[in-house]
Order: sequence, then C-alpha cells, then structure tokens
Amino acid sequence: MNTILVGAQWGDEGKGKIIDVLTEQADVVVRYAGGNNAGHTVFIGPKKYILHLVPSGILRPGKRCVIGNGVVVDPLSLVEEIQGLRRLGVKVGGNLAVSETAHVVLPYHRELDAQRESLQGGQKIGTTKRGIGPAYGDKAARVGLRVNDLIDPARLEEKLSQRIRENNEVLKALGAKPLSLKKVFTEYRAAGKYLKPFVANTVVLLHEAMRRGEDILFEGAQGTFLDIDHGTYPFVTSSNTTAGGACAGSGVPPHRMDRVVGVMKAYTTRVGEGPLPTENAQVADLLHGMGREFGSTTGRARRCGWFDAVATRQATMVNGIDGLAVTNLDGLDTVETIKVCVAYRHGKKRFDFVPNDARLLGECKPVYAGFEGWRTPTDRVRQWKDLPPKARAYLKAVAALSGAKLFIVSVGPARDQTIFV
Ligand code: GDP
Ligand code: IMO
Ligand code: MG
Repeated sequence: MNTILVGAQWGDEGKGKIIDVLTEQADVVVRYAGGNNAGHTVFIGPKKYILHLVPSGILRPGKRCVIGNGVVVDPLSLVEEIQGLRRLGVKVGGNLAVSETAHVVLPYHRELDAQRESLQGGQKIGTTKRGIGPAYGDKAARVGLRVNDLIDPARLEEKLSQRIRENNEVLKALGAKPLSLKKVFTEYRAAGKYLKPFVANTVVLLHEAMRRGEDILFEGAQGTFLDIDHGTYPFVTSSNTTAGGACAGSGVPPHRMDRVVGVMKAYTTRVGEGPLPTENAQVADLLHGMGREFGSTTGRARRCGWFDAVATRQATMVNGIDGLAVTNLDGLDTVETIKVCVAYRHGKKRFDFVPNDARLLGECKPVYAGFEGWRTPTDRVRQWKDLPPKARAYLKAVAALSGAKLFIVSVGPARDQTIFV
C-alpha cells in the first residue's frame, strides 16, 4: 500500500511524528517536495530528532529513505544533517538515496532570499531564508544545478562559474556582497564528494521497490495552504506541497497511490506572514505558555488560532484526503469552550471555501461554532474509548466538518501517544 501524507493546514501539523508512526508499516519513505525549510520533529523515548531534508523514516532501522527529484537539496545542510544523525547513533548509509535530478540550493539562492525579504519590507513573506524560492525559481527558469552536476567536479565548476557571474551582478545591484567562485566551488565540491555514494536514479529505485511489492510512504513537507498553487499566494512556499506533488516529485504515477492521510492539529498554527483567519491571542498565550509552538527550523514563535474547518475541508478536497490524523489534541485539554471556524464572513458575504485572494482572506471574519471543553488530561489515553466523551465529540465534529474519516489521534509527541481510531 502506497500512502501520501500531507499537511492539511499551514505546516508544522505534526507530520514528522505521524510519519514515524506509519513508517512501522512501510518499506520506503520518500520526501517529494520542499527543502531544509522543513523541520519535522520525532521523539524516540526522551531523544528528540529534528529532520530537515532526510525523511523521518531514517530513524527506524531497516527502512529505506529517498530524497526525491522534487526536493531542493542544500548540500551543505544535508551533509551536516547526516553527520548530526550519525553522531546521535542513527545509521545513515545504504538506507538513504538522493535523486540525481533533485535541484541544488546554492549560496546565491540563500542570499537572494534574504535580500528579497528585506526589500519587501512590510510585504515580506517571512521565509525561512533557506533559499527555497530562488532555487525553485532557477529550476523553473531552467538555469538550476542538479545533484548530477554537484557530484561531477568539472561540470560543477563550469556551471557554477557561469551562474555565479550572473548572480553576482544581481547581488551587487541589490547592494549585497558578491560571492567568490573559488570559495563556493571548494565547499560544494567537498559536499558533492561526501554525498556521491548516496546519489541514485531514485525513479528506478522506487519502481523496483514497487515491483517487489514494497510499501511506500510519501512524506509531505509544509502544508496545503503553503502550496505554490493552492496556498495563500504569495504567502506560500515555492513547491507543490499537496498530494499531487508526490507524483511529480518522485516519479511514482497517480494510479499507484492508494491513500492520502491528512495531518492537522486540533487547532491552527502558522509561522511567517500571510492571512490566518482564526488567529487568536488566547490560543497563542495558552500554547506558548506551555512552551509549545516555537518553530523547529527557525525557532520563531508560531502564530496560533482555533481550528479552521473551512481550510481543512478545502485541504480534503485538493489532496483527496481519505484519513485524518489529528495531532496535539492535548493542547486543548484545559480550554473551557473550544471554537471551530465553520465558515468565513466578509461584509454580508459568506464563504464556505478559502477565497483565492490573500487580501480578501485576510479581511474575512470567522464564523464559529462552540464546543464544550473536556478539561481533563488526554496525554495518557491510548484507546479511543478512553478519551473523554467531549473530546470524542470534538474530534467527530472536526472530522465531519473536514469531510474525511478520523484515522489517528495524537495526544503527545511520543510514538506511543497515538490512538488508532
Ligand atoms: P511537522 O513539521 O509537521 O513535522 O511538525 P513540527 O515537528 O514542526 O511541529 C510539531 C510539533 O508538535 C513538534 O514539536 C512535535 O513534537 C509536536 N507534536 C506532534 N504531535 C503532538 C501531540 O499530539 N501532542 C503534543 N503535545 N505535541 C505533538
Ligand atoms: P514543515 O515541513 C511551516 C513557511 C515560511 C514562510 C513560507 C515561505 O516543517 O511543516 P520558504 O522558506 O519556504 O520560502 O518560506 O512558508 N514555511 C513553513 N511553515 N512549516 C514548514 O515546513 C514550512 N516551510 C516553509 O515560514 O511563511
Ligand atoms: Mg515543521
């Protein structure tokens, strides 16, 4: 069975934790989009791992992991991540393959990302400054370097010198410091050498795995409303984060996909700029007060709000979500009255879907339904029947409003704090 797992909100839904849980039943775990803008947290006992480019499946011995062609790879960051995992005792070797056609993030991408953000001033996106937008931009403009180029010194030098010459002109025009070809080449040459043993034709590798009858789990990064096409443009990332991206970003065709799991928090968070209709100070204070909802990649405090069922309903539609994994239920354990956004209102107009204009969405007011809180800890619950009845009612409502079946409920960051419904 091949499963696509996607974030159904604005990222950081707890995908890493659910991937770790589902990896038990998978043979191969594939990242298909995004780059090291992602931060996926997995706890194994007291040990905390934050994965950025390497699929979260790497933490389970015996499983194979693939960084697919749709990912943009910052080689320096990937080398550091592999070394970090090895230091923590995680085996990274033949169990990791990196697509030879994945695009490479270069220093001018990071620099341009930072420059564009500061030039935007009040209009900035609040990116992770990892160079993601410029790297995907070069991919679309057909001037990118791919992993194949990275691991071939002659090709790397030739392409880098041409690309750095052009980008230095742009950087200078923006008032930024130009890059030294020699320095960049030396660093990337070393990273290429380190990564070469991991590089493979991952399309062939995945199809061979399917022929053997193996199960593939596709690890989505970011979330539905950060999708370049379906998100709150321009406050989005630069890839197709939604389920369709799994096919393009891996080379596994649509008819081989068996199910789509949508991960969502029991409330809503967003990090970075852009509209968030249910944003609410009470929810933010509550969660930040518990030391929760600080970004795993940039450490920024995440914006928080009530569950937005208009958004998750649209996520179900766009991704074809069959099963919902609702995480962080325990975050609402102390709340007296829990609100859920069931529609938006803009003046006299009511919206049952997410309007495509970010400014309009920013002006929308949520229409809320209220739910009585259960006000008992849920973090020790392991069975659906042992959840407080009010928590079950809330979860059932959230699933019904989102238009998909409840599959998993998560009541804590650990593996065993998971309820299969
Ligand atoms: P991802 O990017 O979707 O993988 O999510 P992140 O790892 O960036 O953020 C999710 C955060 O929630 C992490 O700190 C997780 O350890 C944590 N988490 C996931 N599920 C639960 C849960 O059910 N309860 C609690 N308390 N924390 C959770
Ligand atoms: P995971 O996989 C949450 C956000 C950034 C910014 C916008 C564009 O951990 O859920 P980018 O650096 O991609 O150009 O930034 O997207 N963003 C994320 N927010 N979780 C993520 O990944 C994100 N990756 C990017 O904050 O608003
Ligand atoms: Mg994250």
